[in-house]
Amino acid sequence: MTGNELRKKFLQFFASKNHLVLPSYSLIPEDDPTLLMIGAGMAPFKPFFTGKMKPPQPRIATSQKCVRTGDIENVGRTARHHTFFEMLGNFSFGDYFKKEAIAWAWEFVTEHLGLPEDKLWITIHTKDDEAFEIWHKDIGLPADRIIRMEDNFWEIGPGPCGPCSELYIDLGEDRGCGKPDCAVGCNCDRYLEIWNLVFTQFDRDEAGNYTPLAKKNIDTGAGLERIASVLQNKRSNFETDLLFPIIERTCRVAGVAYGQSEKTDVSLKVIADHARSLTVMIADGILPSNEGRGYVLRRVLRRAVR
Ligand code: SER
Repeated sequence: MTGNELRKKFLQFFASKNHLVLPSYSLIPEDDPTLLMIGAGMAPFKPFFTGKMKPPQPRIATSQKCVRTGDIENVGRTARHHTFFEMLGNFSFGDYFKKEAIAWAWEFVTEHLGLPEDKLWITIHTKDDEAFEIWHKDIGLPADRIIRMEDNFWEIGPGPCGPCSELYIDLGEDRGCGKPDCAVGCNCDRYLEIWNLVFTQFDRDEAGNYTPLAKKNIDTGAGLERIASVLQNKRSNFETDLLFPIIERTCRVAGVAYGQSEKTDVSLKVIADHARSLTVMIADGILPSNEGRGYVLRRVLRRAVR
C-alpha cells in the first residue's frame, strides 16, 4: 500500500463513520499565539475542543501537515523521527468518546490494514480504568498487553488536553536494542508507536490549572510515515515511498550510494527530512528570517546544507 493509498484509506474509513473530511490546515496557526507552527492534527481545532467556536460537524477527520523540531537531533538516527510528518486524525467535539475511539482504531488497524493482533500493544494512563476495561473486555486484549504509564497524558502548551492511550506494534527482536529491559516505551526501534488516542477532557490555562471541559472530546493522531513503513515492510520511514525518492535523487546529485555507510545514510536521511520540512514551510508562506517561524526555517535549511 502506498503512502497515498494509506492516507486515503484512513480518511475514507472515518468518512464511513460519519466524519467530515477536511484538507490539511496550513502550518501557520490562525489566531494562536501559543504555537509557532502546527505540530499536531488537533492544533487547528483548539477552539472547537474548548467550546469557544462551533465546529462545522461534531466529527472531523484530517491528514494534517505537522512540523515538530523537538526531535531534530534524532532525525536520521532513528527509523521514526522527523521534523515534518503527516498526522492522520479523527476528532470528536463533544460527540463520541473512549468506547468508539478505541473500537474504531482497533477495527482500522486489524481489519483494514491487516496488522497482526498478537503484535499489537497498548498503553493507557495509570489511573484510566475505563480505557483498561474497554481494551480488555470489549476488544478482548489480554491484560498483560495493556500497559499503564504515568506519562500517558497529552498536551501541547495551554489548551485542551487529557489522558491518552497509544497503540504500538512489536517489530521483532532483531529491530531492538537487545537490552534485557527492552519493552514498550524503550527508545529503540523495536516497539513502534503508531497511533495516539487522546481523551481530551481538560482545559489547561497559562498558570497550569486543569479545568474539566463541559463536553468530552476525542483527538487522535496516527503517523502516516510510520504506518507506511510497517505496511511496506521497510526498516525505516525513510525507505517508504513517501521519502525514499528524495534519497534516491540526493544520491544522484551527490554521487553517493544509500546503504553503504552509516554516516552517509544519516546525512541522506537528514537531507530528505529537512527538504520535506523546508518545502512545506515555504509552500505555506514561511520565509527565512531572524525570528519566529522564519528562524526555524533558516535553522533547518542551514542544518540540511551542513
Ligand atoms: N494530539 C495527539 C498527538 O499529537 C494525538 O493526536 O499525539
